[in-house]
Amino acid sequence: MMRMPGRIAPSEITPRELFMSRRALLAGALAGGAAATLPEARADTAPAAQLEPLHYTLNRQDSVSLQPTPYEDITGYNNFYEFGTDKSDPQANASTLRPRPWSLTIAGEAEITGTYDLQDILKGQPLEERIYRFRCVEAWSMVIPWVGFELGALLRRFKPTSRAKYVEFTTLYDPAQMPGERYSILPWPYVEGLRMDEAMHPLTLLVVGLYGRVLPNQDGAPLRLIVPWKYGFKGIKSIVQIRFTERQPRNTWNIAAPDEYGFYANVNPSVPHPRWSQATERVIGGGWFARQPTLMFNGYASEVADLYRGMDLRRDF
Ligand code: MTE
Repeated sequence: MMRMPGRIAPSEITPRELFMSRRALLAGALAGGAAATLPEARADTAPAAQLEPLHYTLNRQDSVSLQPTPYEDITGYNNFYEFGTDKSDPQANASTLRPRPWSLTIAGEAEITGTYDLQDILKGQPLEERIYRFRCVEAWSMVIPWVGFELGALLRRFKPTSRAKYVEFTTLYDPAQMPGERYSILPWPYVEGLRMDEAMHPLTLLVVGLYGRVLPNQDGAPLRLIVPWKYGFKGIKSIVQIRFTERQPRNTWNIAAPDEYGFYANVNPSVPHPRWSQATERVIGGGWFARQPTLMFNGYASEVADLYRGMDLRRDF
């Protein structure tokens, strides 16, 4: 794969241990009184120690050379409506989710289908850390060190047939574990979809961890999708089913508000949301006034623009 501008050079990489200890230093400095001059800087918490550490290799080529957002923001400022609509609700409420054991069903237009224990599916699957930009449709962004593997690697194992044109993903429906599903804020279960070539693109990840440890519940444990050039809502959490389809699947935000959220949801600074601009984004963890211009395809244009050649991205938003 081509290296995109702004990608990290191997020599520039800060190993996780190093930036974690740098954070510990910063925390010490703040405790010493520097907080008064740095109102938005906070002592970062290390990833929750009770979450299992993962074995993975860092994929430098596909990582961006940006400082990752603090762990406490990635895990404390979330959208996961199954646990409430405030950004702090998922962290407060997601302990009712039981991510282990977990079943994953592969269905639809494939030679091999069935329901599997997630641990069996992950057995022997090498994991990579990739530091990706993350852009929410609400015009805020983060930089997240995910741990996962290419979705395409999993899909190929099930031998999709020639009728498989799309892939549909479904979140767990269990109001006992996900109390927000008792309220009709969204149609449940949450569903999402990708075109087959988007699903097979090497940047598209199935994620099982972040900051080197298994995903906290609020970030979509035990398995979520990440498509870094699309708005964050494509990143469906706590996936229980992956289905190959011939027709374009529905996706939850498009069902809920079709004029505001499309199927493609490619990050596009020149197509405003009907109620706000997408030209810039608030940088989470950078203070309330930290904004930066939004990049076409969230900075991944050199890798993915070809997928949309000939399409009108204003119509297919
Ligand atoms: N998946 C499910 N099942 N339920 C949700 O409410 N929210 C989406 C997406 N995946 C959501 C979901 C939205 S709107 C965003 S921006 C991202 O998750 C947020 O991911 P994060 O909380 O890890 O930042």
